[in-house]
Amino acid sequence: MAPTLSPDGKTLYVCLRFQNEVAVIDISSKRIQRRIPVTREPVAEVLSKDGKTLFVANHLPSGPANVNRISSVVDVIDTAKCKVVKSIPLSNGAVALRRICLSPDGKIVYVTSTFAKFMLATTAVERGWMNSSGLSLIDAEKRELLYSICLDDESLGAANPWGVVCSPDGKWICVAHAGTHEVSIIDQAALLAKLSKFPALGQSGLADADYEALPDNPTDDLNFLQGIRRRIKLKGIGPRELTAANGKLYAANYFSGTVDVVDLESGKVLEPIRLGPDQPMTLERKGEMLFNDASQMCFQQWQSCATCHPDGRMDGLNWDLLNDGMGNPKSTRSLLFAAETAPLMAKGVRHDAERAVRSGIKYIQFMQPTDEKTQAILAYIKSMKPVPSPFLVNGQLSSRAQKGKQVFEKAECASCHNGLYFTDSARYNVGTSDSPDKGAEFVTTKLNELWRTAPYLHDGRSATLEDVLGKDNPRDQHGVTSKLTPEERANLVEYLKSL
Ligand code: HEC
Ligand code: HEC
Repeated sequence: MAPTLSPDGKTLYVCLRFQNEVAVIDISSKRIQRRIPVTREPVAEVLSKDGKTLFVANHLPSGPANVNRISSVVDVIDTAKCKVVKSIPLSNGAVALRRICLSPDGKIVYVTSTFAKFMLATTAVERGWMNSSGLSLIDAEKRELLYSICLDDESLGAANPWGVVCSPDGKWICVAHAGTHEVSIIDQAALLAKLSKFPALGQSGLADADYEALPDNPTDDLNFLQGIRRRIKLKGIGPRELTAANGKLYAANYFSGTVDVVDLESGKVLEPIRLGPDQPMTLERKGEMLFNDASQMCFQQWQSCATCHPDGRMDGLNWDLLNDGMGNPKSTRSLLFAAETAPLMAKGVRHDAERAVRSGIKYIQFMQPTDEKTQAILAYIKSMKPVPSPFLVNGQLSSRAQKGKQVFEKAECASCHNGLYFTDSARYNVGTSDSPDKGAEFVTTKLNELWRTAPYLHDGRSATLEDVLGKDNPRDQHGVTSKLTPEERANLVEYLKSL
């Protein structure tokens, strides 16, 4: 993703999202010269004006989920050294990063994300109680987080911020709201003037909580952008990518296959550009649109299913859903093969996928779950296809993974993790159930696409598969892992990452 050319035109940087790397490609030889490891799922990048620094937006956070502070990071690559020299954590709960851009004067890096309030029980959506929409500002020279601002309005969310660009004259910062089919056009000079009254986050020395306690702080103030931004409804559906030129903003709409054109000065939405004939409307397609749509699928547009389940997977966070009581947060689950395996949820509280979808619409989105919407979303979930593991070699298990498969048998993993989706659908206490779910039994988890679904276990306590097999299985209640040699363990992990 995000091919970015160096100012001298000699080097191309490309984000390898699922390899967790940035490739450095020499243009003349067309060869990958280096692969720079980054934090997790790099999806966008931008170069400083002098080409010396590459800012990489990582989609998901890394680390365990049962903690009080968690966010995705922007990695800073020194292009001369070809390595990450700093990782900038965004504000607490800033996850699902999508796009990044540089102000034309080269001073500020803007990055879009969701701001998740994962520490609150999910009793409401109003005022961004669960999720709000965020824009983070980074000082390009000091490489520090400056500010986080909220892109919603007090009683109207602007869910799933995606593309972000500055107009070439630096007058406007534009953000696409993929969940509400809008763009925000923000007056950059007015924004920076308003922000300058607050201490910069990276230099304030204040912890997140202390910063949030500041009166009218921009991170939490849902009225912060009033008077300095225009929210404009587009004609198309699902705007993601943006570009601005010659006084116009162009927004590529993922679902309607159109490009909307907005006049930046007047805010007028002009005739859209059609990219081809309309795609046939199947039930799956309708379901995917609803899954991503906050305008039809959530009270006051605060979030869509995709806000917590980006790309149908997970946000890497724990949420205290009310499906199994309060005070016992669970890690968000990927929806791949969710309809093929029942019961659903960590504790199996939902009998089948249809009931899970219906309850999601009702209790998380605070909407009436009509049959039409439920069936469409269900059809979308059923249509999801796994992405082949980047750990496969030519589509096959590597030789290490093959050895790991034997360890999987030997350690008796397959007595519970069996069949096409590696689950017997039964409930067990495998020694992972302590407070607040003391003594609880959990459904054997599916193991497909494990390479991209960290953190693991019902409460996201394991940042890695090594943790699942080691630190989080101290008494061999979850497969017999204590007697494995380090090599066997490494091979087993290689196998698990290949599924
Ligand atoms: C606030 C975040 C959030 C939102 C929004 C959300 N989910 Fe979830 N979802 C979760 C969490 C957390 C779990 C795991 C809960 C558990 O294990 O008890 C989950 C689990 C599920 C599962 C069960 C997967 C499995 O294999 O067990 C399904 C299906 C699901 N969600 C569908 C949806 C749909 C459809 C929507 C939109 C109507 C939605 N979710 C919106 C957080 C969310
Ligand atoms: C007695 C049945 C049983 C056996 C044997 C077993 N598991 Fe599990 N496994 C479970 C259950 C139940 C969970 C869910 C536990 C939780 O969420 O706290 C789970 C969860 C997992 C997870 C986390 C998946 C995720 O997405 O969070 C992994 C990885 C895993 N098991 C791998 C293994 C391996 C490898 C072995 C063999 C060494 C093994 N399991 C043996 C029942 C079993």
